[in-house]
Formats: sequence, structure tokens, C-alpha cells
Amino acid sequence: MPYLSPALNVMIAAARKAGRALIRDFGELENLQISRKGPADFVTNADSRTERVLIEELSRARPGYGFLVEESGVIEGKDKTHRFIIDPIDGTTNFLHGIPQFCISIGLEREGHVVSALVFNPVTDEMYVAEKGHGAYLNDRRLRVAARQNLPDILVASGAPFLGKDGRDQFLTELDAVVASTAGMRRFGSAALDLAWVASGRFDAFWERKLKPWDIAAGILIVREAGGVVTDLDGRDRMMDNGHILAANEMLHRQLLDLLRGKA
Ligand code: IPD
Ligand code: CA
Ligand code: CA
Repeated sequence: MPYLSPALNVMIAAARKAGRALIRDFGELENLQISRKGPADFVTNADSRTERVLIEELSRARPGYGFLVEESGVIEGKDKTHRFIIDPIDGTTNFLHGIPQFCISIGLEREGHVVSALVFNPVTDEMYVAEKGHGAYLNDRRLRVAARQNLPDILVASGAPFLGKDGRDQFLTELDAVVASTAGMRRFGSAALDLAWVASGRFDAFWERKLKPWDIAAGILIVREAGGVVTDLDGRDRMMDNGHILAANEMLHRQLLDLLRGKA
């Protein structure tokens, strides 16, 4: 059984509550896809409501903790040592299109380090959690990153810059290097779940650039507690500052870092 700190239990309860409403919205979306107005406003509402529920629930249980949240930004708390980093829906485009690959992501930071993490897909009911020093779990199952060591055997996930984001040329160069050397790549549209899937061994590796702290705060701890290595694309622990990230087992991480930097 996973070790769950009191704070992680609070995070799980908040995510389950917000998740129930998200599932209802997701069902409702099927009807909205065909309406002329389209579901965009509806999704924006679902996003802000999820965020509100999470902030309400977490503040009730941990008054004083601060927040860094995608829509609301920074909410200062009296307690300067703790803050929750939240993405209410990671994988919004999937949600909007009725694709069940999205999640709630919550990391709890203590003195600048994430100590408890949760990534929850309410549709599949997959609850990924990690507690610093106590391992990572998917529901009750202990997670371990995949053990594959050779590039030709591995499945790699990434995220592509879409309309309005720069970095396309660099992404295409990196993508070209990866597809030429590995068994395949996937772009599933939720960075937090991509990281959780590296932790569970479904993906062997994940890289992406220019992510936000709320996309990765929880996922980084989950991968590390599953025995994986996570750095930015220069091999440093600066992912939360620059948004660049590479996650894999130790051996693959080294090889992919070289490959992505054009040194392999
Ligand atoms: C996005 C997802 C996606 C990644 C984007 C993110 P959102 O977050 O994590 O996988 O490629 O860069 O912005 O907008 O769905 O919360
Ligand atoms: Ca996100
Ligand atoms: Ca989001």
C-alpha cells in the first residue's frame, strides 16, 4: 500500500471531488460538439470551476498555504514555506475534443521542493501519486520506470508546439533525430500524464520544451520516485524555471540527452 501523507490525502480528496464534476462535463461535451456555438466556452467554464473547487478544498484543509495555479496565477499564503502548484485540466485540447486523455495535476511544494504529487485522470480513474522518499504509485500499484536500455526498442512521448507557440524548427530537428533512432513516438497532449506514463513504464521517455511549472511539478516527482531521471535539456535541474524537460531511466536519459543535442 502506498504511504500517503495527510497532505497527499487532502490532495486526493480534492482531486476526486473536482474530478466527479469534470466527468459530468466530459459527458455533456458530447452533445456540445455538434452545436454550432461549439464547446469552447463550456470548456473554459469547466476549467475555471475545477480550479475553484481545488483551491476551495485545499485552502479549507490547509489554510495559509499559497498557490501557483494556471488561471489564477500566484495566490500568496500566510505560510511562505508551502504552496500548491495546480493545473486544473492538463490536456485541455483533448478534453475539448472528447478525448479521454486529460488530468488534474497537483504538486505540493515545501521550501521550494515538491514533496507530494498527484496526477489524476478522472475518466480512467487512474490516480498517480508520489511522496518524496516513499515511491510512486498508480492506485495501489508501486511504479517503476521501464528498464529498456536500447534506443531501437523504446517508445518516446513528446509535445509539439502548436499555433502561436515558437520553437517549431527546433522541435522538428529533435523529432527527426528521435524517430530515426527509436521504435516510435507519441504525442498524446497532456504533459502531466506523459510524465505519469513514463513513471508507469508505458512510455520509455518523454521530452518537451517550454512547459509551465503546473504542467510538470507533480509529474517530475512521480517519475523520480519511480526511479527515473528528470532534467532539463542541458542535463540540469532547472525544468521548473525554463520549462524544458527530459524524463527516462538513467541509461536512456544519457543517450537521449546526446541525441536531442545532436551529439549522438
Ligand atoms: C498543455 C499540455 C500539452 C503540452 C502543452 C501544454 P494544457 O497544457 O500539457 O501536452 O504540449 O504545452 O500547454 O493547456 O492542456 O493545460
Ligand atoms: Ca497544462
Ligand atoms: Ca491547463
